[in-house]
Amino acid sequence: MLLQILHYPDPRLRRKAEPVGAVTDEIRALVSDMAETMYNAPGIGLAAIQVGVLKRVVVLDLSEEHNRLQVFINPEIRESEGEQIMEEGCLSVPGVFEPVTRAGHVRVRALDREGRPFELEATGLLATCIQHEIDHLDGKVFVDYLSRLKQQRIRKKLEKHQRLAM
Ligand code: NI
Repeated sequence: MLLQILHYPDPRLRRKAEPVGAVTDEIRALVSDMAETMYNAPGIGLAAIQVGVLKRVVVLDLSEEHNRLQVFINPEIRESEGEQIMEEGCLSVPGVFEPVTRAGHVRVRALDREGRPFELEATGLLATCIQHEIDHLDGKVFVDYLSRLKQQRIRKKLEKHQRLAM
């Protein structure tokens, strides 16, 4: 089922998501719907909060073929080091791409869609995506890292789009 993606500056993107207690069929259904919504957009990552669900669930797929879905439930960054700058975009901030500085190497722990814990070392694009999605779970959006002026411009642009869409 396709879910509706909230757009910045929607205040619902500012809420903090709650940890998932048990990975149930309901959570697996959410994961499937989120994956379908992400592929349809199309995008490479989506956090549950972007579809209005306050749970710590993230899906990612960095493959060209859209056949390498990665699921992170209750993701936590255990270690981070180094620095990299990558151009980021976000399904909640359509049409905006800006460079953001983040850790270049992270070690993340999470549960998979069966509820099994795993750890992953990530660098490059995957490291940036994981940090971007975990930010969403804490109510943060990548534009928060940009200058005040850029944030105002983006807000105006998106508010105008939303008025036109009504
Ligand atoms: Ni995003």
